[in-house]
Amino acid sequence: ARNAAVAAIEAATDLEQLKAARLEHAGDRSALALANREIGALPPQARKEAGKRIGQARGAVNQALARRQQVLEVEHEERMLVEETVDVTLPTDRLPVGARHPVTTGSELIADIFVAMGWEIAEGPVLEAEWLNFDALNLGPDHPARTMQDTFWADPADHGVVLRTHTSPVQARSMLTRTPPIYIACPGRVFRTDEYDATHSPVFHQVEGLAIDEGITMAHLKGTLDHLVSSLFGAGISTRFRPSYFPFTEPSAEMDMVCFVCRGTGLATGDDGAADAASCRTCRGEGWIELGGCGVVNPRVLTACGIDAERYTGFAFGFGIDRMLMFRHGIEDLRALFEGDVRFTTAFGSEI
Ligand code: PHE
Repeated sequence: ARNAAVAAIEAATDLEQLKAARLEHAGDRSALALANREIGALPPQARKEAGKRIGQARGAVNQALARRQQVLEVEHEERMLVEETVDVTLPTDRLPVGARHPVTTGSELIADIFVAMGWEIAEGPVLEAEWLNFDALNLGPDHPARTMQDTFWADPADHGVVLRTHTSPVQARSMLTRTPPIYIACPGRVFRTDEYDATHSPVFHQVEGLAIDEGITMAHLKGTLDHLVSSLFGAGISTRFRPSYFPFTEPSAEMDMVCFVCRGTGLATGDDGAADAASCRTCRGEGWIELGGCGVVNPRVLTACGIDAERYTGFAFGFGIDRMLMFRHGIEDLRALFEGDVRFTTAFGSEI
């Protein structure tokens, strides 16, 4: 057993094999271990003799193991050094360069359009006081928009803080911290408990606008929004107001622009890849694309935010940035804007 063991140990060519040899020849079930266990059954004379021989054999095997282990470890180390050498002089591909996200560049473009008109860019937190998100905007405690259906509450058991459901609380913040004239725009992230599908997402982006001054009318609103639309989509695109309702504006409207793909016909043109479908895919046959809500600031909001409603009037709007980007770039699935796929992002480069 001793010679066989030593031979097997010497024959091991790597640490794995040595481990197997150790298990077989020096483990609990090896021939030598078993023989050792049988010594007790021998007569006393033979016991002494056998114990000595087995002890020597085990010593020799352990020595052989230790020696082989050392040799193989050194070999292993040397091999790793060779195999893992990095040739720093080899040419490499450059790391792929990412790109700024279209929502970022799009928000900046929109902000620039307002800055060019002399407006300020305002900001507010996404985790917002319930009072600013709702009450200050004339959305009373019983308003349906305050129910759990639309709103992410920071703590559902303890109302008071919400993930803002729109950028409109920035209106309230701006009125509370500034004195008229106020001209602010605020692009930002908003949250609602919506499904996640091709046209909805629980997180999306709006751009809020607020103008407070003496003599502001609905006409100023229309002119400003027309300028925004023509800056983003090209001159001469028709827009329309549809009557609507928001507690914080009165009167309120929904603003649409003519679908620039079918030019308002609602029919598929063929060059949008839907030649066999009857209706335009961009506006779904409507001929119009909805951009968002707007209106003349409700005097109750002015008063709640400390503005003299006798002297000042204002207009406000809140448009969906993601929607505008989808129309502008022919993005068919809203989710592309939220999944962070660099192939999507880099397709825009840094232009928008
Ligand atoms: N906050 C409204 C919304 O999220 C949009 C809006 C903003 C309407 C400002 C009127 C004035 O739908």
